[in-house]
Amino acid sequence: MNRYSSLGLTLKKTAKLSSIIAGLLAVTLIGCSQAQPPEAKVEPSKPAQSTLVSAKQNSQTLENLQKAYNGESNAHVMYLAFADQATKEGYQDIANLFKTVARAEEIHRDNHALVIKAMGATPENNITTPQVNSTADNIDKAMGGNLSSAIKGESYERDSMYPEFIEQAKADNNSAALQTFEYALAAETQHADLFAQAKANLDSRKEASRSYYVCTISGETFDRQPEADVCPSNPNGESLEQTI
Ligand SMILES: [Fe+2]
Ligand SMILES: [Fe+2]
Repeated sequence: MNRYSSLGLTLKKTAKLSSIIAGLLAVTLIGCSQAQPPEAKVEPSKPAQSTLVSAKQNSQTLENLQKAYNGESNAHVMYLAFADQATKEGYQDIANLFKTVARAEEIHRDNHALVIKAMGATPENNITTPQVNSTADNIDKAMGGNLSSAIKGESYERDSMYPEFIEQAKADNNSAALQTFEYALAAETQHADLFAQAKANLDSRKEASRSYYVCTISGETFDRQPEADVCPSNPNGESLEQTI
């Protein structure tokens, strides 16, 4: 079982964001019987009987996209602040992890924004100043404790938020939202694992002894160079970014 099927995901590595948006535009106009997550195409089962789907019918998914956009926006800012704190405390490897995860959240933020805009809405966020404590506490917060209403923590996003948003996107036949949520879920799952490893080995994580990578389309995150084909392909350039 690979990591996607273990997550119940069906990500296809050739998915393109442009096709996600194309799929979204289709889904906002044309009713369909089944979402097609891999390439976000929407194929009406009976084209001749297609019905118009109003934005109102996707209102819950749009609301979820806005929540996710706000959460990713704040998480991006928060992790950069946590990176600075880790540097001050001498945990340079942990600082590099926070910087890398901040980059992943930025990718999620921008993916969600694209889908929101394609639905004819304006992405809305409210950036709050993150509370920064010790690096050990910050890792706990990142994993899921004591965060603001906007930022729920990686384990919450993995176990509750994104799975629920994915189900709603499926119910709304919104394949673009489904795709961006599935990308985020895959990455948040990795983030929770990476932070758990950091927490368990904090004392050995002072030296910057490794490089970090993110997939430029999905934000999937690695603490070593992954296999060449692990990221969804990026038609506009590199699909893998070395952050550190
Ligand atoms: Fe994220
Ligand atoms: Fe995350």
